[in-house]
Amino acid sequence: MDKKKEAIEVLKEYEQNHIIKLLDKLDEQQQEELIEQINKIDFHQIMELYNNTKKEIEFKESKIEPLKYLDKAKLSENQRKKFDKLGTEVIKNGQYAVVTMAGGQGTRLGYSGPKGTFKLDVYGKGKYLFEILIDDLKEANQKYNTTIPWYIMTSIENNKETVDFLEKHEYFGYDKNYVTIFTQSEMPLIREDGKLLIGKDYKIKEASDGNGGTYSSLRASGCLADMKEKGIKWVFIGGVDNVLLKMADVTLLGMAIAQDVQIASKSVVKANPQERVGVFCKMNGHPKVIEYAELPTKMAEQRDRNGELKYGESHIMCNLYTIDAIEKISNEILMYHSAHKKNSYIDENGNEIIPEEPNSYKFESFIFDAFEFFDNIAILRGKREDDFAPVKNKEGVDSPKTAKELYEKFWNRQENKQE
Ligand code: UD1
Repeated sequence: MDKKKEAIEVLKEYEQNHIIKLLDKLDEQQQEELIEQINKIDFHQIMELYNNTKKEIEFKESKIEPLKYLDKAKLSENQRKKFDKLGTEVIKNGQYAVVTMAGGQGTRLGYSGPKGTFKLDVYGKGKYLFEILIDDLKEANQKYNTTIPWYIMTSIENNKETVDFLEKHEYFGYDKNYVTIFTQSEMPLIREDGKLLIGKDYKIKEASDGNGGTYSSLRASGCLADMKEKGIKWVFIGGVDNVLLKMADVTLLGMAIAQDVQIASKSVVKANPQERVGVFCKMNGHPKVIEYAELPTKMAEQRDRNGELKYGESHIMCNLYTIDAIEKISNEILMYHSAHKKNSYIDENGNEIIPEEPNSYKFESFIFDAFEFFDNIAILRGKREDDFAPVKNKEGVDSPKTAKELYEKFWNRQENKQE
């Protein structure tokens, strides 16, 4: 069967007749491109995900309990020294790599460029989020006498802008030979009536498929193979928007080694039941994070005997893995979550429709959904004022204003310590 027929068959089967009509209106080149895209899409998967959007998320059947953690501030001196020594050795031996997930859109921040290129107004002159991350890596390199290989995940949408920005700023002094930029995968967007959206370029609209795509994209891009060739044993994966993120925390690394786990994660105590962070728990005997949008209010508000939130260990996107764990996860299929969003599209008459209300679904997998493939992970509770200052919203909580304050306070404290 030729490619066009094959595409039309699939479109008929999944009731996407509007795309068949569109095909006839396109010139040869446009047709070819659309057909190629159609033949790559897993329609069965996307329709199954669409049907799932009608179901409620239920945790009732599951056994949920808090996940154990160690508090960094309460470690004995011996324990701390032991962890730090173990962690330091790995980094010094060049067996440590860092991945930054920078494929997100930053919609809430109201900034149109890649989030890493956002300039935070600190110390008068300002610093870009990428620059802040690089400062942290450079400090670790100096401390452990090494250069940590750094992998940056972008989206198809923001890749070029990210590369151009880092080139223009000469990687803020980071050795370019140690930086690899790769792109993540995408998923089609689907309207509330089950029809795929068409974009201005007469292609099916797709968007980044969430930060859970990091693992498979690391493999598909060749970065995983590259890490193995370099002899990397531990990989840190972090977000782009926490200006207090510590990407080479030897205590976290040493704790993971000492506890003989394949994944370790740093948490901070949740500020209040409504804070928009995922929380750690154990579900049916496996480690898990429940994302803020999916956490039932009752669970969010539950307190233990000491009056602390029962599910109060927040996921701050500060996760560490053995290279074997990354390899294992990269071959598994992660679950998808749906988000109801506003997305413009071209209708059957070629007019652009710009919705005022959410009209479609975006499917995303989440980085932490891989935790449940393991029996256990180790959690190290850090301190909010040392570890977590996210830039998420334009104003109010987790905004550039709050991040600036936390960042400057932290660095002032560091300077005072040294004096
Ligand atoms: C995220 C976490 C949440 C955590 C909070 C802490 C996830 C799914 N959620 O929520 O549990 O408590 O941060 O601040 O991780 N990204 C990509 N590609 C994508 C989507 C996102 O690379 O397709 C990256 C972003 O660039 C960012 C990170 O993943 O670095 C987090 O993404 P975002 O969508 O902003 O997550 P939050 O809702 O803030």
